[in-house]
Amino acid sequence: MDTVEINGDCPQDRLGYANTMPSLVARDQSCIWHPFTQMKIAPDPLAIVRGEGAYLITEDGRHILDGISSWWVNLHGHANPRINRALAAQAEQLEHVMFAGCTHPPAVELAERLLPRMPPQLTRVFYSDNGSTAVEVALKMAYQYWTNRGESQRRTFLAFRHAYHGDTVGAMSASHDSLFTASYSPLLFGVERATVPNDYLASMDPDLDGGGSEPLVDLELLLEERATDFAAVIVEPMVQAAGGMRVWKPEFLRRLRELCDRHDLLLIADEVMTGFGRTGPMFACEHGPVSPDLMCVSKGLTAGYLPLAITAASDRVYEAFLSDDTSKTFFHGHSFTANPLGCAVALAGLDIFDQENVLGRIQGIESRIRAGLQSFVGRDYVRDVRQIGGLGIVELTAEGGYLANVGPRMAAAFLERNLLLRPYGSIVYFMPPYVVTDQEIDWVFDQIDEVVSSVMSNGS
Ligand SMILES: Cc1ncc(COP(=O)(O)O)c(C=O)c1O
Repeated sequence: MDTVEINGDCPQDRLGYANTMPSLVARDQSCIWHPFTQMKIAPDPLAIVRGEGAYLITEDGRHILDGISSWWVNLHGHANPRINRALAAQAEQLEHVMFAGCTHPPAVELAERLLPRMPPQLTRVFYSDNGSTAVEVALKMAYQYWTNRGESQRRTFLAFRHAYHGDTVGAMSASHDSLFTASYSPLLFGVERATVPNDYLASMDPDLDGGGSEPLVDLELLLEERATDFAAVIVEPMVQAAGGMRVWKPEFLRRLRELCDRHDLLLIADEVMTGFGRTGPMFACEHGPVSPDLMCVSKGLTAGYLPLAITAASDRVYEAFLSDDTSKTFFHGHSFTANPLGCAVALAGLDIFDQENVLGRIQGIESRIRAGLQSFVGRDYVRDVRQIGGLGIVELTAEGGYLANVGPRMAAAFLERNLLLRPYGSIVYFMPPYVVTDQEIDWVFDQIDEVVSSVMSNGS
């Protein structure tokens, strides 16, 4: 077993053992089960003991640039001093209280400050604690909206191929069928899955960029036949993230909203990844602009600090639950709903947006990433290059899709260079925290260039 030297009064000292202790990785391997990880064959986890700005710092002192914002959550840098202070101050006041029958200042202030920044139809905040539960809440609200109104035939959801909405049962049902959902398929409820036409795909390669002008014929036909079967349409606005970092034209969102209006369907925008500036504006719906009936946010909501989520609802949805009949109540809640510490760090994150011109900074990051990506367009081993906001994507020609073996090989090579990226098989993407500098962005693209060229020239 690996051991590291320990200074000070550790239990082993007191017991008179040698002044050594198993390394963090060895201890982890004896007791932890990691997410999305085949524990039998996975490489050792990275032992991270500290974070500072755009960097994660390992047990042995390496500074690793966090090129994916720690699963897309971190916004203003790790261990951000302003957020740390807000967290400590809130902990002195109130760490938690149940949210049924109680309220508290950070939850109210966060709703008051966030709603005016969200699309205009959204007027109510329902708190939960992660992206999957925000989606689960939206699906349940949309479903019950119709039953509360006496239209209980509207049982189905319309979702999109390649979608990813989370790992709870409802969120998995709305996600694309994949290796990740296959084991649970008998548990999942059926949804209707539509394809986004290629015409709406956005690319930096002019040959691949769709015009975005064709009507959504298949969807229109489907809805003309069966609109009253559907409770809602759920979409990841502007970019399907885990399903392959597919970027769309804003026209798609606009046409989808038009179709929902024409057929009286609710539109659920899953902004769990896209929210809080990832695609440029504060929310991806602004690209349309469209206003959904329900919107899910999490990840960047707390700037990546604590698990918290919001499902925002329109008056139309909210009012369908108001009744003297208790069966029309929205029966959902979690122990940590609206946790005050989470709400306080979310407020500190908003202060940083407002006072440090973060949206302006994202525009700078966007143009630097665009410049870095340009040299990949048209290379013979590159299938596509895409970009939106602070997210840059290079898709390689390697076969195998999500499971292409170039993915883990590239991830290991990036790590050797102190860069944390987790390619989806043949899709390499970069989504840094907003504190990243121009020099760091240029350095990242040098690393991507060298690693990708080497992996692709050694056979994919
Ligand atoms: C669009 C989208 N929805 C939902 C989720 C699920 O969020 P969580 O991992 O917090 O449950 C994710 C996670 O990546 C996501 O990208």
